Amino acid sequence: MGTPLKILLVSPEIQPFAKTGGLADMCASLAKSLHSLGHDVRLFMPKYKQVEGEKFSLQPLPIKLSIPVGEKNKTGEIFSGTLEDGTPVYFLGNDFYFNRNSLYGDEDEVFTDNAERFIFYSRAALEFCKALPFQPDVVHCNEWQCGLIPVYLKTLYSQDAFYKTTRTVFSIHNLGYQGNFKAETLALARLPEEVFTPGGAEYYGEFSFLKAALVYSDSLTTVSPSYSEEILTKEYGFGMEGVLKDRKKDLYGILNGVDYQEWSPEKDSLITKTYGPSNQDGKELCRSSLLRRFSSTFDNKQPILCMISRLSHQKGVDLVIEALPTLLESGLKFVVLGIGEHRYENELQKLSVRYPENCLCLFKFDERLAHEIVAGSDMILIPSRYEPCGLTQIYGMKYGTIPIGRAVGGLNDSIEEFDQTTEQGTGFKFDEFNLSEFLSAIKRALFVFKNREPWKRLTRNGMQKDFSWDRSALEYVRLYENLIRK
Ligand code: ADP
Ligand code: GLC
Repeated sequence: MGTPLKILLVSPEIQPFAKTGGLADMCASLAKSLHSLGHDVRLFMPKYKQVEGEKFSLQPLPIKLSIPVGEKNKTGEIFSGTLEDGTPVYFLGNDFYFNRNSLYGDEDEVFTDNAERFIFYSRAALEFCKALPFQPDVVHCNEWQCGLIPVYLKTLYSQDAFYKTTRTVFSIHNLGYQGNFKAETLALARLPEEVFTPGGAEYYGEFSFLKAALVYSDSLTTVSPSYSEEILTKEYGFGMEGVLKDRKKDLYGILNGVDYQEWSPEKDSLITKTYGPSNQDGKELCRSSLLRRFSSTFDNKQPILCMISRLSHQKGVDLVIEALPTLLESGLKFVVLGIGEHRYENELQKLSVRYPENCLCLFKFDERLAHEIVAGSDMILIPSRYEPCGLTQIYGMKYGTIPIGRAVGGLNDSIEEFDQTTEQGTGFKFDEFNLSEFLSAIKRALFVFKNREPWKRLTRNGMQKDFSWDRSALEYVRLYENLIRK
């Protein structure tokens, strides 16, 4: 290894402290991997109400930050903790901003002061490094919530000796979330006028955290090679395709890895019985436990399909709802674990009333259940409209739970269509977002399921795939090193 790098990884959510989706998994597992490569990586996130201080033995540090937000200064306290492997994690405390029942909003509404909350957080990240002190070679920002960090470094902190050699990387995890706010946000962020221009953070009259990050970061990444191409098009660019095309030479697609310490059926303490590719007896027991959650375990030879997902438009929940009557009539079982838009919860709930023996809805966020379901199911559905990376198909493969997903973004990069002749491949994919293509992919899976040997081969193919961070973390390191050299 070359010289160890000092990396500040900033993310609004980090597993196991606070999580709404794959971002939390990705940041924690990338950090662990960088740490194991010998780099000095530290994480920075808000101390939400959800962060269990006692459980994780968080310690207050003797640092009090005073952060300008609009006309006022707001106080930030710092707590320190670690990931399981010892990687340091710092938490920014401010009860007014972060002591709430959810991370970004209640029910279907986002908090009205999210701009202010994440201005505070972004600027605090920079003031915190100076206070500790920890002089990062690279600040790696994730999602719009940290989008202003690169802007601050290029404006208010551009003459600051402490940050003279610091470079920024911004990772796009989902262009559908942009952090677009009123024009007055510029003043709240105390940024100079020049930032609010079409070549900067201005986006159709609004102030966009995401666009700011796309313009001001030294380097941009996204979480799969396919998504890095798709976002340059009108169909997937969410209006940012122009800015992204301008920055094409600084944009890299790096497929997310996963943390097999957490997600391996061989050592998963959250499932009924462990198992592996050569001995799948344990999976049968996991399957039986899951079946007991249904109101009837009758005919346990029928396949169990699952979905573990935010119930959002992106994820194609509507397509699943459309497909379910046909599937449930045929006798197979379906379980969904998810929270999200009420319209989807209502429709799914209706189906579970209509097909009580075959359709199970679990509308909650529960990490243990996610492991139990992925281990106990036979197939996992991910019919997304778009999918920057997607992690549940990768978890599915490892657990012998065959992914059926749309051929977009990271789903396309991680799932290989199963070929019945060669018996190569790990899952089933479909191109167009419509019912007939989706059902046809499911039918191909069901056909193979009926035949014991090919199905065994298929599950084994997936379980033997390696999506650990080994390769992808090195790609990030290479990127960091190139930036520093520039
Ligand atoms: P996204 O980040 O777009 O939500 P990913 O597939 O990348 O999609 O990651 C989703 C992560 O969130 C996975 O770790 C998945 O297990 C988890 N997850 C989603 N919904 C739930 C839920 N209701 N309970 C527990 N875990 C969930
Ligand atoms: C986002 C994306 C998802 C990706 C995750 C982690 O939430 O929607 O596809 O896997 O971030 O990068």
